[in-house]
Amino acid sequence: MKKIVFIVLTLLVVSLSVLVNAQDKGAEVVVFEKGRMQPVTFAHHMHQQKLSNDCSSCHDLFPMESGIIKEMITQEKLKKQQVMNSKCVKCHKDRKKQGLAAGPTKCTACHVRSK
Ligand code: HEC
Ligand code: HEC
Ligand code: HEC
Repeated sequence: MKKIVFIVLTLLVVSLSVLVNAQDKGAEVVVFEKGRMQPVTFAHHMHQQKLSNDCSSCHDLFPMESGIIKEMITQEKLKKQQVMNSKCVKCHKDRKKQGLAAGPTKCTACHVRSK
């Protein structure tokens, strides 16, 4: 009996950890299309890694769905450039101030001319 309970528990733990690891991390790279400015190529997985998988540092503002930022801007649930200002640039500035490794704040470092 004890043995069966042990086996069942082990199976449960293994399947749970598989589920956790299978969390959908989304695209490796997200491209924001050209508007007035050049497009932005965003290294999604690199950010997840550098931010110790703290998904909420971005996804507290928008859900984990492809194309959701554009959609929310159209629906006026996000202001134009709100993600850029309150996430991308804000985090890079704050981290730089704290002396931590950070991404760029110069327009043309993110908005890069496409080939
Ligand atoms: C530094 C910001 C940032 C962090 C941190 C972040 N994401 Fe994202 N994520 C984005 C952006 C930007 C998009 C694209 C949204 C869009 O297409 O409008 C996105 C989209 C997604 C999507 C939808 C599919 C896709 O790739 O377009 C999934 C799933 C996702 N993220 C999962 C995660 C998970 C899981 C974590 C944490 C391990 C995470 N993200 C951390 C910025 C981030
Ligand atoms: C750290 C990266 C980053 C930097 C630096 C940056 N942007 Fe952005 N920008 C983005 C992202 C990502 C978007 C799309 C998300 C959004 O709309 O918030 C965007 C969107 C925009 C848009 C709307 C889309 C378009 O092309 O018309 C404009 C305008 C813009 N940025 C102008 C600027 C200007 C001007 C600067 C410099 C003062 C700048 N950005 C610096 C990342 C950046
Ligand atoms: C919560 C903090 C945080 C947020 C939010 C964030 N970044 Fe970063 N970004 C970083 C860190 C940390 C690095 C890596 C610095 C290093 O180790 O060199 C980085 C690096 C970068 C780089 C330089 C490396 C490369 O891929 O070329 C770019 C460009 C960049 N980020 C763009 C963006 C854009 C666009 C967004 C918004 C969609 C964004 N970041 C949101 C923290 C952040």
